[in-house]
Amino acid sequence: MTSRSDARRATAIAEHDRDDVPLSVRLRTETSEAHARAEQSTFLADLMHGRLGLVAWQLLLEQLGAVYGALETTAGRIRENDPSNALLSVELNRAEAIRDDLAALRGRTGFAGVGLLPSARDYAERILSHERRIPRYLAHHYTRYLGDLSGGQAIRVHLDRQYGLPREQAAFFRFEGIRRAPVFKDAYRSALDALPLSPADADAAVEEAGIAFDCNLELFDECGQVFASLAPRIRASGAADAGGGPLSSAVARVRAAA
Ligand code: HEM
Repeated sequence: MTSRSDARRATAIAEHDRDDVPLSVRLRTETSEAHARAEQSTFLADLMHGRLGLVAWQLLLEQLGAVYGALETTAGRIRENDPSNALLSVELNRAEAIRDDLAALRGRTGFAGVGLLPSARDYAERILSHERRIPRYLAHHYTRYLGDLSGGQAIRVHLDRQYGLPREQAAFFRFEGIRRAPVFKDAYRSALDALPLSPADADAAVEEAGIAFDCNLELFDECGQVFASLAPRIRASGAADAGGGPLSSAVARVRAAA
């Protein structure tokens, strides 16, 4: 049987080991369960497998516009105070690309959008609130941009296969200023690991990355619910057929999961 002092010793060792683990490794390993949940989100899976329509992507992208707006506004403010911050590369910026894609998608689908949903508003406000808590801000930066450079590219392939996504509607996925994503990601991880963070700051970054994944999950769930409630109207207007697949079974599943 394990005594209390054994348990205390084990915790102390675990904490000690954790301090020796590079931040990039902690971020990846300690968010791996959350990542699996995000990949398996009903909305994202339905979207990627052609069970919704391109309007569902437009709905999510509209919300991501606010999230990237917050990420990039905050990065601008942090850069002003610390221009040497190697992580906040402007080549990552997505807000302008999202604006272009949304204009092109609106033209294609005829769907005007829904405005800012509460989950996206909360997510964006949370990011903005971390302007002076840089480790927590960086957790959001890492979660979105490294995700976009990784699985995000797979999402583009799925969307294109299912709905057709021509170049002028897919600027979000194109990082014109980044020639080789794996090289960029390695440099990003090295820059993370070189930050002079206290153990408490590193813990805060890892904790916040978990929260960033939760923010994304909440956003996907809300998009699923909103899309389900809009689907009859979208279908009636014909917008869902803009490269979309059969809606009915997916809508029923999204409703059941909500
Ligand atoms: C179906 C959706 C997704 C797929 C298929 C996917 C797939 C992947 C894959 C294969 C990698 C590893 C790439 C590499 O080692 O270079 C990765 C990394 C990553 N993904 Fe995803 N992903 C998805 C959704 C998401 C979402 C929704 C987020 C967060 C919003 C996210 C955040 C990340 C992050 C932060 C990394 C970098 C991990 C690291 O190396 O530290 N992913 N993803």
